[in-house]
Amino acid sequence: MVNDNKVVISLRNVKRKFIVGDETVYALRGVSFDIREGEFVTIMGTSGSGKSTLLNQLGCLDTPTSGEYLLDGVAVRRMSKNQRAKLRNRKIGFVFQNYNLLPKTTAVENVELPLMYNSAFSASARRDAAIKALKEVGLGNRLYHKSNQMSGGQMQRVAIARALVNNPAVILADEATGNLDTRTSFEMLVLFQKLHQQGRTIIFVTHNPELSRYSSRNIFLRDGRIVDDTLNPDIQSAQVALDALPVEEVIDDIVNDTINQDLK
Ligand SMILES: Nc1ncnc2c1ncn2[C@@H]1O[C@H](COP(=O)(O)OP(=O)(O)OP(=O)(O)O)[C@@H](O)[C@H]1O
Ligand SMILES: [Mg+2]
Repeated sequence: MVNDNKVVISLRNVKRKFIVGDETVYALRGVSFDIREGEFVTIMGTSGSGKSTLLNQLGCLDTPTSGEYLLDGVAVRRMSKNQRAKLRNRKIGFVFQNYNLLPKTTAVENVELPLMYNSAFSASARRDAAIKALKEVGLGNRLYHKSNQMSGGQMQRVAIARALVNNPAVILADEATGNLDTRTSFEMLVLFQKLHQQGRTIIFVTHNPELSRYSSRNIFLRDGRIVDDTLNPDIQSAQVALDALPVEEVIDDIVNDTINQDLK
């Protein structure tokens, strides 16, 4: 399928090196690609291949040593720190492996956070937007649970709702299923696929090459370089995979849930 939507991310020969003591690490050795609106891209590669470094560039958390990055048509490298922070807040939703939620804070408050810096939102508009995002990720029944009162999968849903709430141009996920069991990982994938079907642009970094079946495009990094960049003509349904998971695991989950409930 040819996607001729507008380009939201454009990298041109982006390099990033780190100097540690008298050693230089070439984490990115010249990466170029365009990502269009509505693509669901996985970025894969072994440990140390540069995935997080690349995602940090895309998320404006770090600046390249050289090369050009255009986010929604804006050249990021020439921006001031302040401008970059603003751009990041408006255009990007982040989902991390360890959820990065505020501890002992409710789901709604965590999701409201990115809107705090947006003067277009009143306090009540913020709350409404947070509740809407939490419902979208299937957490309508956990709005006022605190982070320490939720399962890993539920915390990750809160993090995804927080990433969505600002209606960003791109959602960036770094090992978003890395801490989750198989079943919960597939539940997250079902959610990401739903967001993709709604037209969201998603960039999903993972160690796990199996996840490439569920996205629309797969980029492989090796040693700071792209070694493969292909469209997936046959996107598999994560829901079908979830439904096909062995029953034993479901029983395990129920047992674990019961144990967790007892501990609360
Ligand atoms: N802040 C830093 N200072 C020095 N070296 C760094 C820094 N960040 C990353 N590196 C180095 O850059 C290379 C790429 O690291 P990166 O974290 O991008 O890998 P990765 O593909 O995300 O790995 P993993 O799958 O383990 O998360 C590694 O060799 C790493 O040691
Ligand atoms: Mg990493």
